[in-house]
Amino acid sequence: STPYDVRDAEVIVVGSGLAGMTAALQLAPRTVTLITKTAGLPGGSSLHAQGGIAAAVGPGDRPADHAADTVAAGAGLVDAAMAALLTRDGAALVRRMLEDGLPFDRAADGSPLLGREAAHGAARIVHAGGDATGRTLVTALAERLRTTPSVRVETDAFAVDLVLRNGRVCGLLACHGQGWVLHRAPRVILATGGIGAAFARTTNPAEATGDGLAIAARAGARLADLEFVQFHPTALAVDADPVPLLTEALRGAGALLLDRDGRRFMPDEHPLAELAPRDVVARAIGRRVAAGEPVFLDLRPALAAKPGGFPTVLALCAEHGLAPFAGPMPVAPAAHYHMGGVVTDADGRTSLEGLWACGEVACTGVHGANRLASNSLLEALVFGARVARDVAARPLAPLPPFALPRPPAVAADAGHALLDAIGAEARTALYEGAGLVRDGLGLLAARRKLDRLAAALDMLRGEDGDEAPPEVVRRWGEARNRLLVGRLVVHAALAREESRGAHCRSDHPLPNPVSSPRTLTLSDLAGTA
Ligand code: SIN
Repeated sequence: STPYDVRDAEVIVVGSGLAGMTAALQLAPRTVTLITKTAGLPGGSSLHAQGGIAAAVGPGDRPADHAADTVAAGAGLVDAAMAALLTRDGAALVRRMLEDGLPFDRAADGSPLLGREAAHGAARIVHAGGDATGRTLVTALAERLRTTPSVRVETDAFAVDLVLRNGRVCGLLACHGQGWVLHRAPRVILATGGIGAAFARTTNPAEATGDGLAIAARAGARLADLEFVQFHPTALAVDADPVPLLTEALRGAGALLLDRDGRRFMPDEHPLAELAPRDVVARAIGRRVAAGEPVFLDLRPALAAKPGGFPTVLALCAEHGLAPFAGPMPVAPAAHYHMGGVVTDADGRTSLEGLWACGEVACTGVHGANRLASNSLLEALVFGARVARDVAARPLAPLPPFALPRPPAVAADAGHALLDAIGAEARTALYEGAGLVRDGLGLLAARRKLDRLAAALDMLRGEDGDEAPPEVVRRWGEARNRLLVGRLVVHAALAREESRGAHCRSDHPLPNPVSSPRTLTLSDLAGTA
């Protein structure tokens, strides 16, 4: 007898953010099982995205200009053809959404109100509910999903590993609230989001533990650009997990960065001052914070310029007892977005037969070394739809019969406290060693620490027949994923001996014209379990 349920599906989507829900909806009427570890829909980082969706839909703006800004932000590593595709498809898609009456913020004549964000040559950020763009969008999609009979949603279901036979994806093992399930399916779409919660200080929700990246890595998929992690410059400097984001749109609307003496410092750092590229602003703030000098964001010019424009920010400040109308808010950078991920082509296909990826977990090449603000919701929409089209259009031979795999054994007595301690130490090691500014020694120290923690976690493997409760399996699995993702990021960051975009090495401060390898697979990480 099998130790778990076996369920058959045509397509499995993993993840309940914008990319996953878009793919599932666009696949209708083809039947899809969407699995998510969150307790309900929507989940993931999209829900927390404040700024908006970048798209060249304003008068005089052109997708080619948006693509040029995207390429410039990516510090030499953007795939120009993919940026052209993102901005062209993206503008068409956003126009369609506007025509369909989606609740974007609009002027009296119905045209969209367009915000400005760093390193964009035009005001091209479409937004909704002021700074509640992600929430508005994914809430609407979740509502549509609930009434789409072709999509079966499984919540509280933690994806653990792909099942492969002869290099082909045959399904996915998941640990549900009630126990193990093998989802047998010839097509799996990873839309699990990013890795922010592998770092100690992040704007990402707790679920962003890099599950999809780790799952793809263990299955042998090609990965790329893993060292490029974007730190958002202006997270609220409070003791919270995650740390609340103060959207870049505030600076776009006039908010000012001040030092402890109340002086603006960004004009001395970059000609674009507060609207310099995100990595430049983050490092200017990070340098001061690391030296013990607090930095503040004065929101008042933006709040005055756009009354009612920032309800999410105001609510987040209030939750922490802060009053942005009364004075500047303390800010510091935090891990925010992963440019790297599972290598895909323009249709989201990965290097493994039967596996697609879209959204933050994927590396399509559109971000290079540094993502342009508000290109992430756009990427989720564009590539979620492209993946759905490709999956629907591509005939696949039926699955060959295969022996049912054993789920990984987790020691039944693996304690929550021990697993949580391993996870927390891993997050600190990664944040300290592979943070906003890295160097070889710090990265090596992080590697040693992560290797030691991985060995400690390995001790919690159970004997055959051990049955840890689902809640323990999930904590164990998240710790395993954090550690693997951390080791991959550190490996890639050590290999790139230069500074470029979001990857800043104080021991190699200049860009190196000799290109470094961008892709890797798990086999490059010797000794990883
Ligand atoms: C923000 O609102 O500042 C974040 C937007 C983004 O990460 O693109």
